[in-house]
Amino acid sequence: MIKLKLVKCRSSLGLIILLTALAILSRDVFAAGEDSPRVRLLMDFGWRFHLGNNWGLCEQLDKAGQSSGPAKVNFNDSSWSAVDLPHDWAVELPFDANANYDHGYKPVGPGFPNTSVGWYRRAFTLTEADRGKRLGLEFDGVYRDCRVFLNGFLLAHQESGYNGFLCDISDVANCSGKNLLAMRVDASQFEGWFYEGAGIYRHVWLEKTSPLAIAPDGVFVYSSFKNNVPAGAATIHLQTRVLNFLTNAVTAKLTWQILDPGGKEMAKVSELAKVNSGSESGFGRLAKVSSPVLWSPEAPNLYQLVTTVETAGKIVDRTETGFGIRTAVFDTTNGFCLNGRPYVIRGVCNHQDHAGVGSALPDALQDFRIKQLKEMGGNAVRTSHNEPTAELLDACDRLGMLVMDENRLFGSDAQNLANLDQQILRDRNHPSVFIWSLANEEHAIQRAAVGARVVATMQNVVHQLDPTRLCTVAMDGRSEEKADGFSSVIDVQGFNYIHRGDMDAFHKSNPTIPCIGTEEASSYYTRGIYENSETYKSAYDENKPDYGTTAEEWWTYYHARPWASGSFVWTGFDYRGEASPFNWPNISSEFGILDTCGFPKDVFYYYQSWWTEKPVLHLMPHWTWPGREGQNIEVRCFSNCQQVELFLNGKSLGKKTMTPESHLGWTVAYAPGVLNATGFDAGGGVAAETKIETTGAPASVRLVPDRTTVAADGEDVSVFTVSVADAQGRTVPVANNLVHFELSGPGRIIGVGNGDPACHEPDIYRSQIPVQSIGLNEGWRWTKVEKLNSQMRAQYATNFDDSSWESADVESDAGQLGERGQAVFRAKFQASPKDLSAAGVSLNFELLDDDAFIFVNGQHVGDGHVEQMPAVFDVKPFLHPGENTIAVGVINKGGPGGIMKGVTLEYRFAPVLAHWQRSAFNGLAEIIVQSTKRAGEIELTATAEGLAPAKKVITSMPGNYPACLP
Ligand code: GAL
Repeated sequence: MIKLKLVKCRSSLGLIILLTALAILSRDVFAAGEDSPRVRLLMDFGWRFHLGNNWGLCEQLDKAGQSSGPAKVNFNDSSWSAVDLPHDWAVELPFDANANYDHGYKPVGPGFPNTSVGWYRRAFTLTEADRGKRLGLEFDGVYRDCRVFLNGFLLAHQESGYNGFLCDISDVANCSGKNLLAMRVDASQFEGWFYEGAGIYRHVWLEKTSPLAIAPDGVFVYSSFKNNVPAGAATIHLQTRVLNFLTNAVTAKLTWQILDPGGKEMAKVSELAKVNSGSESGFGRLAKVSSPVLWSPEAPNLYQLVTTVETAGKIVDRTETGFGIRTAVFDTTNGFCLNGRPYVIRGVCNHQDHAGVGSALPDALQDFRIKQLKEMGGNAVRTSHNEPTAELLDACDRLGMLVMDENRLFGSDAQNLANLDQQILRDRNHPSVFIWSLANEEHAIQRAAVGARVVATMQNVVHQLDPTRLCTVAMDGRSEEKADGFSSVIDVQGFNYIHRGDMDAFHKSNPTIPCIGTEEASSYYTRGIYENSETYKSAYDENKPDYGTTAEEWWTYYHARPWASGSFVWTGFDYRGEASPFNWPNISSEFGILDTCGFPKDVFYYYQSWWTEKPVLHLMPHWTWPGREGQNIEVRCFSNCQQVELFLNGKSLGKKTMTPESHLGWTVAYAPGVLNATGFDAGGGVAAETKIETTGAPASVRLVPDRTTVAADGEDVSVFTVSVADAQGRTVPVANNLVHFELSGPGRIIGVGNGDPACHEPDIYRSQIPVQSIGLNEGWRWTKVEKLNSQMRAQYATNFDDSSWESADVESDAGQLGERGQAVFRAKFQASPKDLSAAGVSLNFELLDDDAFIFVNGQHVGDGHVEQMPAVFDVKPFLHPGENTIAVGVINKGGPGGIMKGVTLEYRFAPVLAHWQRSAFNGLAEIIVQSTKRAGEIELTATAEGLAPAKKVITSMPGNYPACLP
């Protein structure tokens, strides 16, 4: 194994910490190539879900493989909802004024026991061909405190709601048929102070490998240049861990092949080494890539590393890993430098939720969000305050966006260090990740010696696993004289807010510590609102907490201080929860440059003016103010043009010269019509033109998809902008019409939103299954028997005469059956033809103890073998119109037993299809449409009362899908 050292030097001329980083595109991506037995299958489809804590933990710790309730293989989940992943149940719950403010008033977490635990189940099949392979389940992230059961075995307990985890199922998997995966997810506890969602909100994968294979996250590749100057050849450091589950030691040959972005081979090296049985070996080599094309947000050039494992002349494993070659340096004079040049971070912090879907984002939405930020000129995101999903990093690698990859829970205890390990091992290959953030605003300890010790331990772990990147901590308080607490040990000092301490003083007293802004702004603004009210804050960027800054204030400050490296705006997108500065009825924050849907607020164009090179010219507010004629309105212009001239209805209101990093303003007496502006370049030529107009009344609905073609993989989405337009097709900026949606073709709507931080309309509409529940507690008769056996069949039959039996109380456990008792219970009920038109009928026993044999109309329906648990049976196929007979034989092994706590029949009728709708907010709403696995045309129709409807067709195309587990 090659040993690498972090290059770190502190000199009197200024500290230079050098990072040379090359990183892999994603986790080791499987390649189901013909020469590889490695297969990675997506498990997003075909889950059953139940909300409620009905069965406790279901672990049976004293005996393996005997977990109870839904963790049991033969548990009947037919009445549960059908769901696909990613899934967030919190977003589907109604808002509740008594719920937690930080978490967006959704009834999940402390105080909501009935809606904080969810169960998921999914069956899958393995075949004889899988026998002998290593089989693993990979969870990208589950919120939170999750227990994973396979075939009744408890295999994992992961508390973190953010860290991905792996479950090796090789030993307990059934390779000759059905396997049953059950997961209990408990979101009763929070990890953060923002909306966190609930459920399996990221992907799940099944991975099959040969017994001799590359270890999970076992490939690490990075580059270095001579003297850390990115010129000439790059040295590529290749490291791979190989696991041997065979019973014998083997000699394995590792081969690394490097392909350039065009697919041309750049280098190929191999190494032979012995891997002992039951152990892991590290392989390592160096390779050269001459004149590499570098990775940057502006040019996200990705190389591929193909790693193969060969033994006895046979390839037994193969992975493909995208990677980028780049250098990343922190310099106390120039701040952050990328590929040898000072590179100012124009970043945003983001939480992970989006309108419509909560925290369960399809991958295409990650791309959608990153593209919006790039359009603004953003070049970095901070994954505040947790490990992101790997697909976000994939999008950043591919589209070009730097990432400050942040840890959630802070601590140097074994569990937190294990979580940190997982995060670094999974993410260290992504070229987008340029720094690790170990903590955010740890008020109690950030300036204390104990904080310094903990952070030093964590940083050390990171350096061991990743010698190519430095660590920071986001601090909202630090010493201005001598670095203390976190600051005394951290690689790069992170600053949350220029108003929380004097950054200049810190820099002066600590000239050898490199710096980066970790959080700025925290201004509040509502899209399309230009006056403060009790619910909304004006979009003029004039409202902020005492520690906050306007966009212009913080950007000007950082712009003048290259050593500070730039910073991250709080936040890129609005997010649910932290509805600052409001409380209920507001349910989401207003900090975002874009709202929860990704619709830009005016401040977006301030950043775009100074963060992009293209000519920008934007006027605010809108120009539809009926009743305000003659009153003064403050008009602002965001632009990077040299000069801007403003006109109202053709009359010039004056030409003004722009101060760099600033904006222009006019006070204009309102008159309806056209307000337009012309921007001029330095030579006086016209660089840009724009206009805003007074609109008429709403006349039509419009639909514009972000993509007109999606992949028919059941995952891809198109994000539709819904707007309300006047007769001339101009978006009416004050329209709030309710819009209804209908979809036909191979697609489905997965969420709606409008960016209104106080809107309580649902984001998700599920088809409802009408259920008719009938109590079946009357008329039971029973008799004790010596021994239940096959001779008892007469007692289970329809025509058996039980009139001499005693009547039974099936709602009470008043010791009917006693210790070791055995009995048969019988009852009759009527079913009408209408009842039998139900799609499903279940017979539910609230408690059936211990072993039970259920018969309906003389036919065996199923058995129950679970103590102290409800039992559910599908009985539709056994019913007929008129009188039906139920007979239940019970064996009680101890304590009270029998049919206790009542019996119900549940008729489930055909679903009533969801009716999707959403009000526009200031002219706009959003609807997210997902493909199914069928190709074809998806047609979306939007209607609103009194308005002309809109229809839009997008195409779902066959393509290269991620392979799925059926
Ligand atoms: C910061 C904190 C963020 C968010 C923000 C709101 O101090 O790090 O998570 O709460 O305040 O202004």
